[in-house]
Amino acid sequence: MSSLDSIVGAVQTTANYVSENLASHAGAEGGTNPSGEEQIDADVWADKLFFDKLSDLDAVGEYVTEERETAVDCGDGYTIAIDPLDGSSNLRSNNPVGTIVGIYDAPLPASGRELVGAIMVLYGPYTTMTVAREDRDSVLRFLLRDGFSEGWGTVELPDDQVVLGLAGKRGQRSEALESLANELERELKPRYGGATIADLSQVMEYGGLFGYPATDGYPDGKLRVHFESAPLAYIIEAAGGGSTDGTQSLLDVEPDGYHARTQTFLGNEEIIDRIEASLGN
Ligand code: AHG
Ligand code: MN
Ligand code: MN
Repeated sequence: MSSLDSIVGAVQTTANYVSENLASHAGAEGGTNPSGEEQIDADVWADKLFFDKLSDLDAVGEYVTEERETAVDCGDGYTIAIDPLDGSSNLRSNNPVGTIVGIYDAPLPASGRELVGAIMVLYGPYTTMTVAREDRDSVLRFLLRDGFSEGWGTVELPDDQVVLGLAGKRGQRSEALESLANELERELKPRYGGATIADLSQVMEYGGLFGYPATDGYPDGKLRVHFESAPLAYIIEAAGGGSTDGTQSLLDVEPDGYHARTQTFLGNEEIIDRIEASLGN
């Protein structure tokens, strides 16, 4: 079994368990994470589960998570960057949540060009795991059920452009983005659910754009480079889509710390080009 196989297998096993036990962790209160955001019991619970499984692998040398200030040394091997529970505030309202894993062949902070694989798990009406890795020609999707994973074939972004998930309130985003948003809202259907994983899944299924732009509240954007933006960019670019921070692929963003944030857009390449034409000057 290769190093990447062992990591994907560990994420799959843990995600199956999370999927079957989320109900007993929904909505409990907690502290705050290093990004200064509300941390709920389920965030800490999921982080511990993934840490126990992943840190034990010979393939993993370092574990860096959204839920802890610093990296945990696990010996030699790849660096894991993980958002154990993405969209966790959705638990209270029983909306989809997910897990995002970046597999870096370098210590962090590092750009997405150091990624050798990325995994996104969506805990929706059913649980799917989507995997992009350097030793595979295409992005693969699996249905996780009863502790197992069933191969669901490859994932490619459709040419259609149907949905738009854009975070932030009108008047709290840049002028340049506002005018493009007006155009896009006439062309695409609004779909925004408060968990990047679920909103990106809509884009990967139907085509379109997901974005968390710079806002008054999050001048650098809300999403974290290592735990959300770069791994998801790795997946969507491997599936034929595009990503940008407004001027460059999210894989080229050079984070200045473990919890660095970036403006994030993921979707069809043509729309990404329009974003860069509007914001890139
Ligand atoms: P997390 O729960 O891991 O902190 O991620 C939540 C993120 C992302 O998943 C989602 O797109 C975004 O926060 C939603 O932010 P708003 O509540 O500001 O819309
Ligand atoms: Mn998240
Ligand atoms: Mn999270």
